[in-house]
Amino acid sequence: MGRKIVIAITGASGSIYAKLLLQQLSQMQNQVAEVAVVMSDNARTVWQYELGDDTYNQLPFKFYAKSDFMAPFASGSARFDTMVVVPCSMGTMGRIAAGTSDDLITRAADVILKERRKLILVARDTPFNLIHIRNMATVTEAGGIICPAIPSFYSLPKTIEELAMTVVNRVISLMGLENDSYEWGGEG
Ligand SMILES: Cc1cc2nc3c(=O)[nH]c(=O)nc-3n(C[C@H](O)[C@H](O)[C@H](O)COP(=O)(O)O)c2cc1C
Repeated sequence: MGRKIVIAITGASGSIYAKLLLQQLSQMQNQVAEVAVVMSDNARTVWQYELGDDTYNQLPFKFYAKSDFMAPFASGSARFDTMVVVPCSMGTMGRIAAGTSDDLITRAADVILKERRKLILVARDTPFNLIHIRNMATVTEAGGIICPAIPSFYSLPKTIEELAMTVVNRVISLMGLENDSYEWGGEG
């Protein structure tokens, strides 16, 4: 029985984290049964701007429209066990903290929390204001995990990809997956 995972991509800086995480998941068929992906409108804009491509179209996963409330993971009965929002904008984090459920990303996060499953927000902005910090506290109290997109340097990364992988390896570990390409020191 493989894992059923939702990946939501939002319009915070750091599309590279989503790209690398999805690439890693595509190589983990032995652990992962299904990966469903949903992107916000700004996620596409930022991905194109920061990475200069739209390679998300080439990934071997099913993509759902943000407005698609008929997606299986909009309901708890589909039994998706883990959701990662990567990168997670302050706007999406605020909407999740407020329980708005007004699009597929916030609805899926709401479902994961109500079913007491694993929600990981790879939050990205700097600096944080008090609203961001209170929203992080609210999501944490509701059972979610705030895993900020803060890379580490002690593995001496030499490329942007290696630096970004220090965050992605941490996320994979929080998801409870074994990363075959994991190297000690790569986890921040
Ligand atoms: C290039 C670019 C970088 C951005 N970086 C961030 C960021 O790091 N954190 C953040 O919270 N918002 C960031 N934003 C703003 C969000 O995209 C914006 O607030 C948007 O409404 C978030 O909506 P979404 O969560 O539905 O994608 C950025 C926008 C652009 C165009």
